[in-house]
Amino acid sequence: MVPEIIFGRGTLRLIGESARRVGATKVFLVSDVGVVKAGWTDKAARYLREIGLEYEVWTETTPNPKDYEVDHGRDIYLETGCDAVIGLGGGSAIDAAKAVAMLATNGGRIYDYEGVDRIARPLPPLISVPATAGAGGEVTQFTTIIDTKRRVKMIVGSKSLVPDIAIIDPLLLGTVDAVLTANTGMDALTHAIEAYVSVAATPITDVLALRAIEMISSSLRASVASRTNMEAKASMAMASLLAGIAMSNAILGAVHAMAHPLGVLLNMPHGEANAILLPHVMRFNLIACKERFAEIAEAMGERTADLSTRDAAEKAIEAIERLCLDIGVKQHLSEFGLQEQHIQELSRVAAEDVSLITNPRDATVEQIAEIYRSAL
Ligand SMILES: [Fe+2]
Repeated sequence: MVPEIIFGRGTLRLIGESARRVGATKVFLVSDVGVVKAGWTDKAARYLREIGLEYEVWTETTPNPKDYEVDHGRDIYLETGCDAVIGLGGGSAIDAAKAVAMLATNGGRIYDYEGVDRIARPLPPLISVPATAGAGGEVTQFTTIIDTKRRVKMIVGSKSLVPDIAIIDPLLLGTVDAVLTANTGMDALTHAIEAYVSVAATPITDVLALRAIEMISSSLRASVASRTNMEAKASMAMASLLAGIAMSNAILGAVHAMAHPLGVLLNMPHGEANAILLPHVMRFNLIACKERFAEIAEAMGERTADLSTRDAAEKAIEAIERLCLDIGVKQHLSEFGLQEQHIQELSRVAAEDVSLITNPRDATVEQIAEIYRSAL
């Protein structure tokens, strides 16, 4: 499952034409505060105006979007008579845009659609324009929204949530700060690695995931180091896209299952939670897929020729830890306020997360708790 993809510097200007092409007359433009501040939302609105389209800008989403936010967005969409949705922003804005579009034509509450393939009616035309490189929502069949009553991150998965068009303009990445560039880049790397070792991986997703790992290993440091390195930004934007397609089809694993409850409990940035957990989960998974880890090490530029498969596999974990150190991501969950007393409940929630189904090694609640402890 893949949307139509428009990729390249300056392609944001095609947003009006693209919206018209999918039949929009009035666009519900979902964006976030950071992207508004950077000036991209105004620019997009101007392109819509220039082509004669009406629009309504909605920026009430927050990182880790909540159920009541998307309900409110859906109300405004319907009240203002919009007939298409554009998500322009980070992963959260794109997830919120998908949820609003889904609720607008399917009715009910977001909980009614938790799980896979429960969306019956077609969505309004949907366009995604990512302003960070990593979350992958621009191409995936998923949206993740917090159920505030049950305090869980719900995953809704359906072919209908794959946007009609994804516009990927690396210029937008030039206004993202180093911390967010690092965190979102690690989210993309986690997508690629979890897709590559997923029990649902296929030869098609393998090619995409491995190439994404190579590109992230060679360009994430440079992208974090400089806002103006457009070559590195373009490489990260493409890697995010490839990793997104790979994980939308091969699904995820224990890193995401364990990161989701951290987003609810500590409101931890998704990429940062993944970055901290990734090496710990890989150590746990190693006995299930050491050959694949050895291939990951090679894709990350490690010398593996004279090594045993086991030693080569460990090189992949070391390479990831070195990358995290170089780009300055935090290394301990305790830095975000996680305490031993939280671990049992987190582990119970993580064990129920659908992402765990495709993890290469089965994990009990106790084993998940041990992994959290190792990352404390
Ligand atoms: Fe992710």
